[in-house]
Amino acid sequence: MSRLECPVTLVAPPHQLLLAELHASLADPAMTSMNLLNEISIRYPEAVSFAAGRPAEQFFELDAVHRHLDRYVDHLRTERGLSEEAARRQVLQYGRTKGIIHELIAAHLAVDEGIEVPAESVVVTVGCQEGMFLVLRALRRGPEDVVLAVSPTYVGLTGAALLADLPVRPVADGPDGLDLADLRRQIAAARAEGLRPRALYLVPDVANPSGASLPLELRRELLALAAEEDFLVLEDNPYCVFAGEERLPSLKALDTGRRVVHLGSFAKTALPGARVGYVVADQLVADGAGGTVLLADLLGMVKSMTTVNTSPIAQAVIGGALLEHGLSLRAANAEVAALYRRNLALVLDGLARRFPPGGGVSWNEPRGGFFLVLTVPCTVDDALLELSASRYGVIWTPMSHFYPGEGGERQLRLSVSQVDPATVDRGLDGLAALLADRSRAARTRAARS
Ligand SMILES: Cc1ncc(COP(=O)(O)O)c(C=O)c1O
Repeated sequence: MSRLECPVTLVAPPHQLLLAELHASLADPAMTSMNLLNEISIRYPEAVSFAAGRPAEQFFELDAVHRHLDRYVDHLRTERGLSEEAARRQVLQYGRTKGIIHELIAAHLAVDEGIEVPAESVVVTVGCQEGMFLVLRALRRGPEDVVLAVSPTYVGLTGAALLADLPVRPVADGPDGLDLADLRRQIAAARAEGLRPRALYLVPDVANPSGASLPLELRRELLALAAEEDFLVLEDNPYCVFAGEERLPSLKALDTGRRVVHLGSFAKTALPGARVGYVVADQLVADGAGGTVLLADLLGMVKSMTTVNTSPIAQAVIGGALLEHGLSLRAANAEVAALYRRNLALVLDGLARRFPPGGGVSWNEPRGGFFLVLTVPCTVDDALLELSASRYGVIWTPMSHFYPGEGGERQLRLSVSQVDPATVDRGLDGLAALLADRSRAARTRAARS
């Protein structure tokens, strides 16, 4: 066949969608924040990373996964009286929407946190992240609804709120982790604009990203204000086990008026790969016809249309871990908590040796947890992070990522959870060199102008 005889096939140009016509969240920079850090870490594998908020991996154990699964199935058979077949079905079949380890979680909360709630108010979720989405989705009735969040805010909350079409209004954190006067101001300002502040989101213990912890009195004052001003408190507390020697009660443990929706995660205390978290939502919801329904049941309805149910296999692993440790994850995490304390001390000591007082670099000293915040004399943005990773061999997180609006432009977050004592000095040397070079460049520019 000659070329001319060849049948002509028209190749249509590939179909294109317009970003501007997809959900607004997809064009929001907050949605790419986590990816940016992953990508930088992949591109500069040699750089010392103070960026990842992931738990230490030294204690991950594949054998423990099998052991915990067996322990949970054994519990079903021996303590719950299930037949072999029913136990197998419980773990391998589609399951109850609100989860299968809700009773163990409720008992664990009583043992570890002094939180006394009925098991029916616990919804087992695919990580705490899903829990946030379920709650925000349920709270958003119309365009007048907004959620307040202590700012800087965990990016997962900002992202979940974007997906739920719920605007986030920042509240200042102040030195104690929450500026109550600003909270009052923000509530009044939102209402003056015709908006309805539904809830305040915060991380009360060694927060991500600030490392701040609310003092006891402030916790009480917040609960009193929530009752007075009629809003819910969304308490996210994945780091409380690592919050230092002096234990402060969680907001939910102090909550006598069912104002607090408590969000929990097993990612830091058991196994992030299991992707198991939970929501405690013991609030009653009036149905308008004289009856009431538990908020947890309504969250279950949202969940039934998002993830159907949290993997029962993953729940069984977490359930087995809880059983193995007598329902207490505080004791089970003693060793890893000591490792985080050591890392934090190493980093604080390294900073003190490199940045003398009055030199323009300062930082907070959290009670524990994964994070601390450095305030520096130059602008901190993604371009500086790229330069830091490529030329100075050190990765961290610009704090501006954690502000729904403006803020954090001269701050960076250091994470200590995966710090390696062998490289911490190299990383902090890189950071010191970067900041010194920036200061020198600023002085040169000032001298020229
Ligand atoms: C404050 C906070 N909440 C929630 C999460 C996510 O929890 P999960 O992995 O259970 O979704 C994190 C993880 O880094 C976090 O820092």
